[in-house]
Amino acid sequence: MSIDVVPDWLDNLLVCVECRGTDLKREEGGFRCFDCGTQYEIVNRVPLFHRPSTMVDAAESLASYLGGLDLLSVQRALSTALRYRLKDPELRGEFSQIVERYPFIDTTEQSARSEPSPDFEVIAHYFNPVFNSAKEAYRSFRIKSNVDYTLKSVGERPFNLSYWLTDASGQRIEGVRSALPIPLHPGRELTVPILIAAPDTAGEYRIQIMLVQEFERWRDDCILYDGPISVVATVPPRPGLVTPPHAGYFDFNEDIARSGKVISLAAEMLRRETGSNELMILEIACGNDPQVLRHNQPGSLVVACDLSFPQAQLGSLRCVKEELTPVQNFCFISADVFNAPFREASFDIIVICAALHHFANITVALDQLRKLLKPRGKLVVLREPGKVAANDPTYIRELENGFNEQQFELDEYDVMFERSKFRPIYQQLDFECSYKAILAT
Ligand SMILES: C[S@@+](CC[C@H](N)C(=O)[O-])C[C@H]1O[C@@H](n2cnc3c(N)ncnc32)[C@H](O)[C@@H]1O
Ligand SMILES: [Zn+2]
Repeated sequence: MSIDVVPDWLDNLLVCVECRGTDLKREEGGFRCFDCGTQYEIVNRVPLFHRPSTMVDAAESLASYLGGLDLLSVQRALSTALRYRLKDPELRGEFSQIVERYPFIDTTEQSARSEPSPDFEVIAHYFNPVFNSAKEAYRSFRIKSNVDYTLKSVGERPFNLSYWLTDASGQRIEGVRSALPIPLHPGRELTVPILIAAPDTAGEYRIQIMLVQEFERWRDDCILYDGPISVVATVPPRPGLVTPPHAGYFDFNEDIARSGKVISLAAEMLRRETGSNELMILEIACGNDPQVLRHNQPGSLVVACDLSFPQAQLGSLRCVKEELTPVQNFCFISADVFNAPFREASFDIIVICAALHHFANITVALDQLRKLLKPRGKLVVLREPGKVAANDPTYIRELENGFNEQQFELDEYDVMFERSKFRPIYQQLDFECSYKAILAT
């Protein structure tokens, strides 16, 4: 089998991301949808399954941004930038975000609104209303700013997030402050971990979360959350959470090895339940290093999917070279989890590693994944942040670099899973921060 050929078995899994039709046929260099006519290219053995309307030609838009420079020069600059590296790692710039850093690339169409939008909107949260008395816990809120100035938690009259608690007798308690991890620019979204200090006295309270501009005013005209919370004296320990011993520091290789064990555990469950060794496995947001190929399950067929074309293409080349599994047993694909090119109920196992926490709305992503699982299928979540470290320099740096970095507490994962009708059947926390779970539908 040539390494250029996309394996045949993929065809039975695919749908058109433009019209959701299943009548896709192979033709020279790609696939074509016979329902709506959309064509999908295959580059480096990787089908590119994006809606044509969502793709822009990077070189063309760069050329127009740079003031009509000739296209050829821009194409050469782009390909050169990706082609060479410097030997000294200290001198290496990052390359993955080159194009995204240019302001022109933001092609999101603002839909015309008839009503004026509120100054600040909540896009997503996974608010778990149970708190342990006298303890602090984070709850993350993704906020969109519709004001025309930048919100910052530094400088004169900074913005913070805070809240008021009201107890059963009507007495109000002012909340602690949480800073925005990075400035929030007009029209943009940011997920902010909000620290909540639960009162010493157990009981029912009401919480109202809002922005506060210090020395200025509380934005109580724009309340981000208003609802009851339960403060309990002792939150019972999380049933069944496995916390393997560790040496007190984060060991990356060990964390990867443990991820492999969780994949094997899920595969073992499925083999037992279905009596079959032939598992159909999908890894979503796999980057160039899918865990399911590192920890290959013999007899399985694997689709490795990432939004980014270069990641998927590098991953494909790498896995062909590393021969982790026969080349006809896996295929990389470049697609968006929110419009994935797969038929419903196609997979026994779906794995997601270090990526769930990057999605703007995790419940929506989980809903999509649930549809792709077969009835007894399992979703395996690996290496997600299981503890909020709001001042962690890596977290701040990634946000500054344009990544949608987010962190969650285990109590928030409970809410995400419950909303998406997933049931955790195995949970593990490694190094006190790296969360792993097997979820059933
Ligand atoms: C932190 S990386 C993790 C990559 C890999 N799983 C690993 O563990 O090294 C997050 C990945 O999510 C991918 N991603 C982000 N949004 C996505 C989406 N909507 N659909 C598919 N993949 C997405 C990114 O391209 C990126 O490769
Ligand atoms: Zn179509």
